[in-house]
Amino acid sequence: MGEQKEEFVVTPYEVRGRIDYERLRIQFGTQELTSELLARIRSIAGSELPPGLARGIYYSHRDLGQLLDLYEKGTPFFLYSGRGPSGPLHVSHLVSFELCRWIQEKFRVPMYIQITDDEKFWARGLSREETVRWGLENLYDILSVGFDPERTHVFFDSRSIAALYPLAIRIAQKIPYSTVKAVFGFPPSTNIGLVFYTALQTAPSFYPSWAEGRSIPCLIPCGIDQDPHFRVTRDIAEGLGYPKPALLHSRMVPGLLGEGAMSTTGHRDDNVLFLNDPIPVVRRKIRHAFTGGRSTVEEQRREGATPEICSIWALWRTRFAETDEEFRTLTENCRSGALLCGDCKSALLPKIEAFYERQRAARESVRDWAESRIITTPPRPL
Ligand code: TRP
Repeated sequence: MGEQKEEFVVTPYEVRGRIDYERLRIQFGTQELTSELLARIRSIAGSELPPGLARGIYYSHRDLGQLLDLYEKGTPFFLYSGRGPSGPLHVSHLVSFELCRWIQEKFRVPMYIQITDDEKFWARGLSREETVRWGLENLYDILSVGFDPERTHVFFDSRSIAALYPLAIRIAQKIPYSTVKAVFGFPPSTNIGLVFYTALQTAPSFYPSWAEGRSIPCLIPCGIDQDPHFRVTRDIAEGLGYPKPALLHSRMVPGLLGEGAMSTTGHRDDNVLFLNDPIPVVRRKIRHAFTGGRSTVEEQRREGATPEICSIWALWRTRFAETDEEFRTLTENCRSGALLCGDCKSALLPKIEAFYERQRAARESVRDWAESRIITTPPRPL
């Protein structure tokens, strides 16, 4: 034990092990999201930062400074993010969309959401019925964080293909097979759907520029596991006459059982807090969740606990601590041993329950306009 570095794997198709985020950032060659940059965002927005930015969930970027320079000189950008439906959303998924909503409101910019109902059919063998059904359900949850309907657009891959395809044709022509093989580590058995898929995930990054026939910068908030796709996007952007998208990367929310990310598939169900879990199930999952606590109360009072490895602390961080001050105090009390894990879990539960109730009501209210935001026709035939 001790000195040896633990192994971890982070790709768009696999997240495993205990992730060393700083090492990952350096390995991927992305920039650190510094306090100077955060201060700049705060001053342009004229508002306190949302939890995703204020509490270090987003920690890395590409070209964010340049994007802000352009914005301040009068060139607005658009936001792009997405979801590969494989099941119900879980609580942490909404963090990135809540950040997008905040940026949309403060910077008054359009948002493009891609629902990839092809991706997990190819990558994980889900049925088409499942990916389509979850795609729609996920879309309702995503829209319910409060996006402005007028400024929000959706690509639902199988239904938006006519709009995306003219771009995907050009994108695919620029990506050699060897790149895809190296970037994603595909074995020879990989189906050719996935080989092509990265072209579809790239297409929305250029869509507004293509549609309007002028260069419109793009900002993509995403989990850092998605960076490999957008490295490819950035490499080919200029060759196609489009600006390279800027990126904002988040950490993955740790699973409730304490390993890897809180991924929707491939784990025991108890590792994940689904947005459609009934409250008694939420209670059970929280009760069983892995924490950063010690094995005895005495030891914890004496030595304190370790928030950084705790799945419950990660939940407080996303939104359940209502202010940054509350989050700081909670973290200090955890570290000092003043706060015990059982009490911390008990305090969290009512907050999660209230959030679930709000979320359920909100998702009902977007159903009637969600469909109308799906783009189905291309802006031009070529
Ligand atoms: N590949 C993503 C997933 O597995 C879905 C996705 C599509 C996405 N486009 C995106 C994620 C843009 C972030 C940004 O969930």
